[in-house]
Amino acid sequence: MSNDALALRVPPPCTEDVMREARHRGVYDETRSVRRVGDRVEVPVTRAFGGYETVEQDDPVRRRVSLSDYVEDPPPFSIVGDVALVRFGDADEEREHAVAEALEELHGVRTVLGDRGVSGDERVPETRHVAGDRDTETVHRENGFEFALDPSRIMFSVGNAEERLRVRDAVNDDERVFDMFAGIGYFAIPAAVGGASVVAAEIRRESYEYLVENAARNDVAERTDARHADCRDVSVEADRVLMGHFEATRHDFLTHAFDCVRDGGVLHVHDATHEDATDETVRKVEETARRNGREVETSVRRVKGYAEGVAHIVVDARV
Ligand SMILES: C[S@@+](CC[C@H](N)C(=O)[O-])C[C@H]1O[C@@H](n2cnc3c(N)ncnc32)[C@H](O)[C@@H]1O
Repeated sequence: MSNDALALRVPPPCTEDVMREARHRGVYDETRSVRRVGDRVEVPVTRAFGGYETVEQDDPVRRRVSLSDYVEDPPPFSIVGDVALVRFGDADEEREHAVAEALEELHGVRTVLGDRGVSGDERVPETRHVAGDRDTETVHRENGFEFALDPSRIMFSVGNAEERLRVRDAVNDDERVFDMFAGIGYFAIPAAVGGASVVAAEIRRESYEYLVENAARNDVAERTDARHADCRDVSVEADRVLMGHFEATRHDFLTHAFDCVRDGGVLHVHDATHEDATDETVRKVEETARRNGREVETSVRRVKGYAEGVAHIVVDARV
């Protein structure tokens, strides 16, 4: 039996067990609410199981599960810790407040900020307070990592979560990693959690201070040598160099990376490029390698879409 609004009718004391079982089987329907009908409770499911009395609901109670259930044509947003950053575009105040209220209700966020993007070498975000608490410091928890930061002043790419896991899984125990653009520890923390010893350079004091805090929070302070410095002034003999900055292909940064990486090591060079021009990034890496008397084997990975027609990619270059 399957329709749009299937429900299992169960005695009230069984409700929680049946909900748990439905979730476990992957058939619990989050888009509808559980409701009481007479002496029974109806548990919304997408498929019947367990021999329970099954009904097709005529007037199901729909639950709102995404921003589009609250506002038409919802703006893009991301959630960092308990702070929402919303690209409002040219929305008026009324719409901004409708979106903010919806995000508070849907995701339990404490603060809503308008997000106008990032600028400069230090990738400083431009934000403005729209609703909620004005104290915007938060802790973003992701795949077992904890990142403390203030997203009104420091960027965080939620879309890089998979790449952070890839870094954690790629490193070997006792490998030496140089993170040239560490920020608050976006990749340095995953590398250290993966077992590497990390030298992490960050030029901006505010980010560096969170980097130190985050190393302690994630229990990897002993393996994280945080430096408040320009990465070009830090010399490390590294097995792996992380270059998580869209300026990474600049000649001076790449040359310094080749000075630091040992033979057999690997560079991870990030870039924002047109979807069909990723070869250009590879070419820059290979050319800089050649000029530095090194040879590289490269592969490209798409991390995420960055803007229309533009992708965030990472070139892995084994030296
Ligand atoms: C774009 S952010 C990192 C973003 C990060 N990869 C992510 O996933 O969200 C780049 C960081 O590099 C830092 N930075 C820029 N130039 C630097 C330099 N010459 N030396 C050290 N850090 C630098 C910036 O302050 C910033 O924190």
